[in-house]
Amino acid sequence: MEIIRSVNTIQKKINTIIGRNEQIGFVATMGFFHAGHISLMKQAIKENDIVVTSIFVNPLQFGPGEDYDQYPRDEDRDIQLAEQSGVDILFVPDVKDMYPKTMHINMSINERVNVLCGRSRPGHFDGVITVLSKLFNILRPDRTYFGMKDAQQVAVVDALISDLNFPIEIVGLPTTRENDGLAKSSRNVNLNKNERIQAVWLYKALKKGQEFVIDGEKNPDIIVKKVMDIITKQTTGTIDYVELLSYPDLKPVSVIDQQVVLATAVYFEHARLIDNLLFDEK
Ligand code: PAJ
Repeated sequence: MEIIRSVNTIQKKINTIIGRNEQIGFVATMGFFHAGHISLMKQAIKENDIVVTSIFVNPLQFGPGEDYDQYPRDEDRDIQLAEQSGVDILFVPDVKDMYPKTMHINMSINERVNVLCGRSRPGHFDGVITVLSKLFNILRPDRTYFGMKDAQQVAVVDALISDLNFPIEIVGLPTTRENDGLAKSSRNVNLNKNERIQAVWLYKALKKGQEFVIDGEKNPDIIVKKVMDIITKQTTGTIDYVELLSYPDLKPVSVIDQQVVLATAVYFEHARLIDNLLFDEK
């Protein structure tokens, strides 16, 4: 596996790869790899000639008071894991190379962001689409792989790719979970022992919500209320949101008669966790 840190160097490398007519798969990450990240890399390896994974903790997508400085990092371990997984190129730019000067252009997304994490983290998805536009232009992938754990991010990237005509196929892959059901997340290390035990209730509550739908409840407000009640009862966390919306448009629905996402975000003392389930009316 080649580790490349400079934008200039990787652009030259990408030119030669494209010159050889090889297909590029791209997995964007902020590092501190877990099985969720690895599942994206493995799928990319199956479907492409060359797989590039980026590690870049993007300051632009963190708001004031968010965990940019505390975001967990372990580059040596990440290098080992990426290499073992079969990644061809690990791209690890530094902030100065990605943002050498203040951007002349501000990107902002208006649709699909006034709900869920977009509402609680103003500007977050503007930072995400900015860094991804840069990475897509630098790496020119044929396919890019994202986890449905961040379902809103997938909806946003899908909009970015279609609005700006990036010739890239986006592949959304299922959430990888711990044995008890907790969605794998780099931020899980910031939970204390009790919180870690409680955290599984995000998933369990969403599952119960889905079961209510399967059992015939089609009113989104009732489902949301039931999920909130479970999380409140079973955890010491503070609910940021529980929402049920159409997917991928992320619009409110009055009755569940199409594909929807049931999603939650919960603040624990040192970690804000998110999870979601995608399902339709059946
Ligand atoms: P990060 O949180 O590191 O996630 C990188 C990719 O891994 C994302 O596509 C995310 O959805 C996926 N992922 C995270 N946890 C997962 C899980 N449990 N199962 C499956 N996939 C999972 O998301 C970002 O970084 C950033 O916003 C980024 C896209 C890199 C832009 O900076």
